[in-house]
Amino acid sequence: MSERAAISIFFFMLVLLLSQASILNPVAYEPKTCDFPAIINLGDSNSDTGGYAAGFDPPTSPYGNTYFHMPARRFSDGRLVIDFIAEAFDLPFINAYLDSMGTNFSHGINFATAASTIRLPNRIIPNGGFSPFYLDLQFSQFQQFKSRSQMIRKQGGMFASLMPKAGYFSRALYTFDIGQNDLGEGFFANLTIQQVNASVPDMINKFSENVKNIYSLGGRYFWVHSTGPIGCLPYVLTAFSSAEKDPAGCLKPHNEVAQYFNLKLKETIVQLRNELPSAAFTYVDIYAVKYSLFAEPQKHGFELPLVACCGYGGRYNYSAEVICGGTITVNGSDIFVGSCDRPLVRVVWDGIHYTEAANKFLFDQISTGSFSDPHVPLKQACRRTSS
Ligand SMILES: *[C@@H]1O[C@H](CO)[C@@H](O)[C@H](O)[C@H]1NC(C)=O
Ligand SMILES: *[C@@H]1O[C@H](CO)[C@@H](O)[C@H](O)[C@H]1NC(C)=O
Ligand SMILES: *[C@@H]1O[C@H](CO)[C@@H](O)[C@H](O)[C@H]1NC(C)=O
Ligand SMILES: *[C@@H]1O[C@H](CO)[C@@H](O)[C@H](O)[C@H]1NC(C)=O
Ligand SMILES: *[C@@H]1O[C@H](CO)[C@@H](O)[C@H](O)[C@H]1NC(C)=O
Repeated sequence: MSERAAISIFFFMLVLLLSQASILNPVAYEPKTCDFPAIINLGDSNSDTGGYAAGFDPPTSPYGNTYFHMPARRFSDGRLVIDFIAEAFDLPFINAYLDSMGTNFSHGINFATAASTIRLPNRIIPNGGFSPFYLDLQFSQFQQFKSRSQMIRKQGGMFASLMPKAGYFSRALYTFDIGQNDLGEGFFANLTIQQVNASVPDMINKFSENVKNIYSLGGRYFWVHSTGPIGCLPYVLTAFSSAEKDPAGCLKPHNEVAQYFNLKLKETIVQLRNELPSAAFTYVDIYAVKYSLFAEPQKHGFELPLVACCGYGGRYNYSAEVICGGTITVNGSDIFVGSCDRPLVRVVWDGIHYTEAANKFLFDQISTGSFSDPHVPLKQACRRTSS
């Protein structure tokens, strides 16, 4: 064979290989595992690693006891799902944007604050339950962070190394876990189930607008958690104890609204995927995994799933009067609200939030991709798929 013929055959084969790979399998050139250099999170207490603590009151002991052995500005006894996600990519835990004390943002940042909503809340801390840092403000903080972090890098000096590289914004994994407090706000304002349900499409539209805004600033990889079964959590079970219960003991109407929220959320993600084809979206049905902890706790090594480990009073060991780490005076004596004996086998930590053990279980389940649409593991969340 002449050298020329060999070269032509080589190029012919190469073209064949490339065209097959890109036509038959458009994801063939996406890497097997994604090397996200940073994680950028928006959300509520499910993923707050210090925002609420910086802005308002930090949670006190026994918060943090199981893993950090001290309060760690998280609403759990240990790590959150977002912490396990960071660990999975060998990245440091992401710090809160609001944390002004020497904070390192070189590999990620967290805009989540406990009690955050998607929509502007009616009643803001301290005059009501919700964080002022609702999703639009978290986006606006992100926008500032993106430009100001680069000014700081250009200035050099001691602060430059605390900021992410410019190129990280388009390579980062953007994670979201928000919506639970939008439902909670409606329920606790005594709206009917139907009224809260009817406001879901507006919540989802506002969510979608923020995702598009992040996309327009360069975000490409999106990992979105569904909202959990709010009707299984002691703070809701205690407040609406007369509502209809399902076989797991959770409140059926409240969970139905959460499921409707998730249906609309998933629809929106399918739509975003079509509108923004150069982005990769993963919808994560964390609701299903959370619900399995309430429905089949023994199967997963848990017990008393509806009862708070660190709380006070009633059937669900929860009282709106005192939170975990606080003290309540009963019949003239002070009672400290501390941890139960075995937080490692418990699902709910303080009546609103999950234990580290539950968070680890949730992470192990969702990171496989089994609960994701598309069914792609966390490590491959940079893959684009057409739907
Ligand atoms: C910030 O965190 C990164 C990653 O953990 C680390 O390599 C770097 O040294 C830290 N920067 C400073 C100034 O501590
Ligand atoms: C909701 O109803 C309960 C019981 O009637 C009442 O105690 C509570 O103040 C109401 N909450 C609001 C925000 O109206
Ligand atoms: C919520 O609204 C949707 C759409 O109208 C409806 O299909 C669903 O049954 C409603 N759910 C509840 C709990 O009201
Ligand atoms: C408080 O005192 C009342 C009346 O003596 C009693 O019925 C109740 O059980 C006491 N509560 C607790 C928590 O000890
Ligand atoms: C309820 O909370 C208390 C702390 O106030 C804790 O000591 C107790 O073990 C919890 N109960 C259960 C069943 O976990």
